[in-house]
Formats: sequence, structure tokens, C-alpha cells
Amino acid sequence: MAGRTWGYWTSGKLDILRRYLDAFTTTTKNKVSERIYIDAFAGQAENRDRLTGEAIEGSARIALSIDDPPFTRLHFFETVERAPKLEAVLRSQFPSRQFEVHGGDCNELIPNVLGTLRDVSWAPTFAFVDPNGMEAAWSTLTALADFRRHRKTKIELWLLFASPMFTRVLRVDGSEVRPEDAEAVDRMYGTGDWRYIYEARLASEIEPSEARDEYLNLMRWRLENDLGYKWTHPLEVRNEQGSPIYHMVFATDHEVGTTIMSDLYARAAAEFPAMRKDARRLRRRLDEKAHGVRSLFGDEEPVLDAPAKPGERFYEHEPPWRPRFLASEE
Ligand SMILES: C[S@@+](CC[C@H](N)C(=O)[O-])C[C@H]1O[C@@H](n2cnc3c(N)ncnc32)[C@H](O)[C@@H]1O
Repeated sequence: MAGRTWGYWTSGKLDILRRYLDAFTTTTKNKVSERIYIDAFAGQAENRDRLTGEAIEGSARIALSIDDPPFTRLHFFETVERAPKLEAVLRSQFPSRQFEVHGGDCNELIPNVLGTLRDVSWAPTFAFVDPNGMEAAWSTLTALADFRRHRKTKIELWLLFASPMFTRVLRVDGSEVRPEDAEAVDRMYGTGDWRYIYEARLASEIEPSEARDEYLNLMRWRLENDLGYKWTHPLEVRNEQGSPIYHMVFATDHEVGTTIMSDLYARAAAEFPAMRKDARRLRRRLDEKAHGVRSLFGDEEPVLDAPAKPGERFYEHEPPWRPRFLASEE
């Protein structure tokens, strides 16, 4: 799978998903008869942690395991090549459950599937959008947001946003951006406004980390201002070496949703550094075993994060800022 490996952060991400979906259906218990789950990039039913070899349940299986109360309509999207295997495993593991696995490009399929759900658009709906890279089109996010636009609250969206990828494909070393990369970024944002950020970076007006923040901010800004979401919550996820790999961006109109996800993010932000440290330690042991050498430095780890202060809260919501290029137009 290009770009995404099953590191410690995958378990962390899926733990948040499980807890949130559990809370999501619980809040609707005895109130509604239908609950919809949409998984735009469903992956496989089960995966293995690349260090420990332990099985990790994929998002589709997690959604089907939520049972008190369960989701009543589940739609999973995967590529044509991978969808049949996903479907076969899920059918054998959940023989009595109703769900659909759609093989193909979710960006093309989702609008039609939402059309078939029109008569139940009153049902609370959660959409997980977890691409490998930049495959999620803005038009898909728009279709999802429009599904319940006439209601008080829209579909809740949980989007994995690979902001560090931009600093890789939008190069500043003098080489041209490949047209297919520029097209993918256009498609993902649904606008060419990201070019203002890129130009500021090219002109060295902003540092790489500021550019990353601006790219993330532009996505949040658009989710709130163009799609009309009341809150967006970002949480940064880093790999074992401490480099950022993506942001998990949650968009909701629901006060309860915003509170629950803030708590889950606070918990993850507190736990992820220790998980990362364990993963680094394990990797070193495996490397030592493979190469038959002992590290000179025992189990000491570099300090990756400042230690927690008493009473410190690890996640606080802050709204996106008006993008620089819009601010300068005023
Ligand atoms: C990060 S993985 C999904 C992991 C899964 N959500 C989980 O947490 O268990 C992304 C998946 O999206 C699939 N994919 C890539 N492009 C797609 C597209 N345009 N439509 C549907 N699925 C796609 C890939 O085959 C891959 O399995």
C-alpha cells in the first residue's frame, strides 16, 4: 500500500474510530431506527502491525462490530481489485448483517449511493474518508456534506489529510511540479487557492512547517466556510521518527460530537508519544536481532515530546484562521 504502513499510529487511529462510533450510535439509541456508516476507503478486514505482527481490525470490521446499537446501513468503498476480498471476508465474519461493498473509485460511486439513501437522509450518518494520499476529491466531500444539508446537522466527516505530502510533491528545489500532482491537489481542494501557499513557500516567505500548517488550515477553512461545518478538529499524527504523516480532521455540526472527539483527541495526544516510544524501542530490538548486534545505548530513547505538566490538557480546539491570501485581499 503506497504511503501508508501499519505502524503504531494505525492502531491509535482505529482506536479513536472505534470509540467514536460506539459513542455515536449510543447517543442515537432508542431515538432513531436507522444509522448510516460510509467508509470511502475501506481497506481490508484485517491487517498486521508491521513491527509486532499483531492483527489489527480494519475500519470496516470495526464499524460492523459496533452493536449497541448497530449501524443499519453500511456502505464500504474499495478499488475494483481489492473490494471482492474485503466483501468475502466481511460476509464470512458477519453473515447475518446487511451491508454493501462497492468496487471502484469512491469519488465516482458515492454520489450515486447517496442518491439511493435519499429516503433515509434523516438518519444520523458518519463518513470515514481515509485515503492513502490525495485520492479523496473535494466533490466527494461536497456530496457527503450535501446529503443532509437540509437538516440541522450534516454528515459527520472524519478525514485523514496527508499535509506533509504537499511538501513532497510541491517542490521548492527549482524543479517543476508534475502536472498530475498539481491536478491531484486541485481535485482534493476543489480550488487552486493552495497555489498562494505554494508561491509563498517558493518565495521563502514561509518555512516548510508553516506551509504544512497553511495547507491544513486551507482544508479546514473550506470545510467550515464552503461546506458550512460548524467545527473542524485536527490532530497531527507522527511516525516512529517523529515526522508528521497526516492530520486526522473531524468535521461536525454537532455539539456532542465536538465534545466527544475533543476528549478522544486529548486522550490520543497524551498516549501517542508513549506508543511511539514503544514502537521505536521494539524496532531497535528487531534490528538488533536481525543484525546480531546490541545497541550501545540500552533502552534510552531521545526525548520526543515535553513531559506532561500537571492538569495539562493535550488537545484544545482552535478554529482555522482566515487564509493569508484572503486576508490580504481585504
Ligand atoms: C489507508 S487505506 C484504508 C484503511 C482503512 N480505512 C482502515 O482503517 O482499515 C486506503 C485504501 O483506499 C483504497 N483506495 C485507494 N483509492 C481508492 C479510490 N479512489 N476509491 C476507493 N478506494 C480507494 C486503497 O486500495 C486502500 O485499501
